[in-house]
Amino acid sequence: MRAAASRVRVDVFVDAGDTQRMLEHDVRSGLADTPKHLPPKWFYDARGSALFDEITRLAEYYPTRCEREILVREAPSIARASAEGGVRTLVELGSGTSEKTRILLDALSAACGLRRFVPFDVSEETLRAASHDVADAFPSLRVHAVAGDFERHLDRLPIAGRTLVAFLGGTIGNLVPAPRADLLQSLAKILSPGDLLLLGTDLVKDPDRLVAAYDDPTGVTAAFNRNVLHVVNRALGSDFAPDRFAHRALWDAEEEWMEMSLVATEEMDVHVPVMGDPVHFAAGESMRTEISAKFRRSGIEDELAASGFAMVSWMTDSREDFAVSLARRA
Ligand code: SAH
Ligand code: AVI
Repeated sequence: MRAAASRVRVDVFVDAGDTQRMLEHDVRSGLADTPKHLPPKWFYDARGSALFDEITRLAEYYPTRCEREILVREAPSIARASAEGGVRTLVELGSGTSEKTRILLDALSAACGLRRFVPFDVSEETLRAASHDVADAFPSLRVHAVAGDFERHLDRLPIAGRTLVAFLGGTIGNLVPAPRADLLQSLAKILSPGDLLLLGTDLVKDPDRLVAAYDDPTGVTAAFNRNVLHVVNRALGSDFAPDRFAHRALWDAEEEWMEMSLVATEEMDVHVPVMGDPVHFAAGESMRTEISAKFRRSGIEDELAASGFAMVSWMTDSREDFAVSLARRA
């Protein structure tokens, strides 16, 4: 057992059975729809999380580097605002490896005697590993991890005392507007006036740079995209042939989001036991696997305000590619 194990607790709200039921539900509705779609949360098994990690190091994928630049520069001011508010707990939604979060943990531990870190992620394996790594690195911190779906289980978060919620990486952009508003409203409901939200969002920019970030020449993003088919095959006993699907990343100028799809390279039937009849794909038919919305300041401010958050500060990297907003629950 690792020395820090006594300071780590993991609550699991998505066990293997729940995951199976949720995936079955999403596959049934997504594959029966026209056009077909699958939600992006299913990318992140252990292999998908490792592929995402690789994406964050690609030259073309700027968001992680930009957000890190912002956090390094602004950690002292975020920590000051947190200390003034008396923050004792940092919650992180979609925490993944919590790598960038260490910048905040360092600053908050020094400035406001942070007591508790609550990482929350749907990918239990990655969450457990990250929780132990953080506990090892921060001996004064208790880590209360929660394995759950941020669209369903926010009310299970162990919120007590003044809290800062970090939702980094631009993951909020992987939700379309209505679920995004639901999530912010659910968050406002579990927080108290004065609690803080730190929200990372990618910004609208030159479409060529956006497409390059989601369609890298080494094919890491393509492998990440196809990974959802491996996840579905393993969990549901389907026979998707991932190499018969091409990776596609397009900029939707009207919606202002990147759209990732898997495109059938030939006509085929896929056997998905929960679907009953075989699932037919026409040659060239595309199945949407992710949207990644890109934002503007006014849009973020409006979305935050509509859910009961007031923007406190808007922080961008030097090229204004990415923004981190600090907001207060009104
Ligand atoms: N915050 C990290 C990781 C971003 S990757 C960063 O900024 O680099 C997105 C993370 O969100 C993954 O770890 C994934 O497992 C998690 N995630 C995606 N959908 C989720 C959901 N519905 N509920 C909880 N976690 C989710
Ligand atoms: C986690 N999320 C914010 C990433 C994004 O940029 O939308 C996931 C990703 N998809 C392709 N590359 C990275």
